[in-house]
Amino acid sequence: MRCGRQVSPLRDHFQKSSPSLNGRGNGRILKLPDLTKRFTAGLRNSGSPGVRRRLRPDPFRISHLMACLMTTSLITGGSGFIGSHLAEHLLRRGDDVIVVDDLSTGCQNNLSGIMEHPRLDFIEGSIDDVALVAELLGRSDRVFHLAAAVGVALIAKEPIQTIERNVYPTQLILDRLGSMAQRGRQVPCFIASTSEVYGKNPKDTWSEEDDLVFGATTRPRWSYGVSKAIDEFLALAYVKQQGLPIVVGRFFNVVGPRQTGAYGMVLPRFVEAALAGRPLVVHDDGHQVRCFAHVDDIIQAVVKLIETPAASGRVYNIGSDQPVSILDLAKRVIERTNSSSEIQFQSYSDAYDQSFEDIRRRVPDLQRIHDAIGFRPTMNLNDIIDSVANQYASETP
Ligand SMILES: NC(=O)c1ccc[n+]([C@@H]2O[C@H](COP(=O)([O-])OP(=O)(O)OC[C@H]3O[C@@H](n4cnc5c(N)ncnc54)[C@H](O)[C@@H]3O)[C@@H](O)[C@H]2O)c1
Repeated sequence: MRCGRQVSPLRDHFQKSSPSLNGRGNGRILKLPDLTKRFTAGLRNSGSPGVRRRLRPDPFRISHLMACLMTTSLITGGSGFIGSHLAEHLLRRGDDVIVVDDLSTGCQNNLSGIMEHPRLDFIEGSIDDVALVAELLGRSDRVFHLAAAVGVALIAKEPIQTIERNVYPTQLILDRLGSMAQRGRQVPCFIASTSEVYGKNPKDTWSEEDDLVFGATTRPRWSYGVSKAIDEFLALAYVKQQGLPIVVGRFFNVVGPRQTGAYGMVLPRFVEAALAGRPLVVHDDGHQVRCFAHVDDIIQAVVKLIETPAASGRVYNIGSDQPVSILDLAKRVIERTNSSSEIQFQSYSDAYDQSFEDIRRRVPDLQRIHDAIGFRPTMNLNDIIDSVANQYASETP
């Protein structure tokens, strides 16, 4: 079963009065023999190429290195689309993982493959809860802050929630990280931002030092980009004033299995419609341009950024730089899924409301992230569509 409801019932979730702290997972069981094996395997592979050395394990060194390997990663919004993939990836690597999520747009089912994992703690709660944030940061060696109000349809409908959800919890987390740093404990943090911060900048390709060009405040869709820009300003201010190790990533259309189309995401909407033989609804004339990157590529970049000290204190575009128009995307989805669906066009005012303004072209310059961590996306559009279609097909009875 996939996550995602229609936009209107979200209000119920947003208005939950007091968030519950509901921890699941067995949490603290460490698999020491696994770690020892991993460490000694690492030793065997080290040294000059082709030279195999027999090493006598040094118990002190092993326990020290095992302590280094036992990282506890906190993922806010870890039951969401990107967060759940990140949680799986970190568990596979041997991290302890704490997921905190209020299940507003994410859902527990996204974690079904790892819910019983002994190194996962799942906490149902909101990161606007001061005590909860303090407790979770106190247990973490690094933080991936992904929780936010996400999705064009949701943002157009719920602008108050967008602004509150995206600004206040980020400030709370940064403030707490600042206090911890003052007491001598620096915890690296990745902050998820978005290509929406560029607004409607008319450049063909956007690079990190470009201007942010937003529309009028009477148009609620800009509240998402502006709220994320405030997060970036805050993060960079904490870097400057308090020396916190924070890195900001601006995601450009991340897609893959488990993404829900319920909040306006285009690829899951198209794939679902194509597989069901329904029309694919393209907004406006379909000539607006986007770049789609697979979540597996994005996760690699996020982890590498937080683990690269030289990347700290900077903002990075993260995504694919291969442009495709939404109309061509719809055609490609129909072709890859062998669908007989038709394409229908819908105006923005019918899809959202009269005030809606879109961005015609959104293509990142990836030079900075390539220079910092050697990042290049590995999956092309066909691979990506197939991966999403396979997920839907496998869920159809
Ligand atoms: N998917 C994309 O293409 C994309 C593009 C740009 C930016 N981003 C950013 O990446 C991050 C993850 O996005 P996603 O696509 O996985 O969306 P998502 O909606 O699947 O994930 C967000 C998660 O945050 C949770 N959440 C929201 N408010 C919370 C709160 N106060 N406390 C606890 N949990 C809360 C939601 O329940 C959800 O599980 C977001 O910050 C988003 O702005 C995503």
